[in-house]
Amino acid sequence: MGQDHVGILLNSSMYRGIPQRKTGQESISNYEKAARTNGFIPCFLRLGDIDTRKNYSIAYIRKGHDYARVSMPTPKVIHNRALYPELSAQRKIHSLAAQGTIIFNRNNRYGKDVIHRLLQENPSLSHCLPATVEAAPSSLSCMMAQYDDLILKPVRGSVGQGIMRLQRDCLGWGLTYPSKTKKAWITDRIDQAKLPAWLHRQIFDTPYLVQERIPLAEYDSSPLDLRVSVQRGALGAWGVTGMFLKVAPKNSFISNIAKGASVYPTQLLAKCFPSKLAADALCRVEALSLSIARYLSSRLPLLADLGMDIGLTQSGKPYFIECNGRDQRYGFRKAGLSEIWQDTYNKPMAFARYLYDNGILISSLI
Ligand SMILES: Nc1ncnc2c1ncn2[C@@H]1O[C@H](COP(=O)(O)OP(=O)(O)O)[C@@H](O)[C@H]1O
Ligand SMILES: [Mg+2]
Repeated sequence: MGQDHVGILLNSSMYRGIPQRKTGQESISNYEKAARTNGFIPCFLRLGDIDTRKNYSIAYIRKGHDYARVSMPTPKVIHNRALYPELSAQRKIHSLAAQGTIIFNRNNRYGKDVIHRLLQENPSLSHCLPATVEAAPSSLSCMMAQYDDLILKPVRGSVGQGIMRLQRDCLGWGLTYPSKTKKAWITDRIDQAKLPAWLHRQIFDTPYLVQERIPLAEYDSSPLDLRVSVQRGALGAWGVTGMFLKVAPKNSFISNIAKGASVYPTQLLAKCFPSKLAADALCRVEALSLSIARYLSSRLPLLADLGMDIGLTQSGKPYFIECNGRDQRYGFRKAGLSEIWQDTYNKPMAFARYLYDNGILISSLI
């Protein structure tokens, strides 16, 4: 312990900010603390600086107050915090793993369709999923015949981008979408038999999902959902590190922080539900999130860190909305939950310690 190295794999833009401590919402000092607690020296890497042939890497390591780029053997265990859409990057990660480097959270962004399909196959989880189909003219008509309120969302979207709502009222269907400035929502009446050409292009030419809109519980007339951090820690066990509430801004139906949602500790739920129901609902959210993480990790390689969006109906029934492989942990800090924020860094480092000490034998089993 003490001198072992753990790798933290970052995208180039974040990596470049390390010397000036300009790493956006990712806290390098939280990694330092978490790594130290688990007997590691953290090495911040980017994929381009890993030489898979020589098993050597160039990484930022802290030297006193500064960070220096150091050439070193590639760390045995690497926590992936980068997103790699390119196939060549995914191939490189694959070959790193094939050579014996244990890289967890290898894939940080699975399509929403892939995750939904996996969960749908599990009968004990499928009842907590909103009805969902891949967008096509026939499937959209089918969903419009069955539901009065639908969400249209890109398969590979994040931070609320590209999300729209289709809702039926006594006058017919209305489509709500962001204005060009993205500061406001526009609602247009639409004719089901003749969708606007731009909408047709957007949702049928790129992969989109059509999903039943869950009537989410509200705070102050705004819908809310929960962000649940589910991670593996010491001994590799999954656990819920923490949760907070995200309340959509006024007149919006999406509760992404990047789209102006407010965040709160879960105690606020007592203002949305009778207090017994609030406590029960939180227990159900926690149990559902854990079951989902355990199940997904039996189907996908080396998952360790998930940020789930879980919605609640007014009767306290939890619904899975989505899960993020690279959770934006700063929501905990914004909600005033600094200790949990630090804990979201501690858990993956404790998991890294477990992998480091137990080696490739363990990693091939989980
Ligand atoms: N099926 C749904 N029912 C109700 N609200 C939803 C549904 N799907 C998405 N939302 C709202 O939109 C937000 C963003 O959707 P999400 O699926 O998490 O996509 P993103 O990856 O863009 O965050 C959610 O946090 C929630 O507020
Ligand atoms: Mg989300």
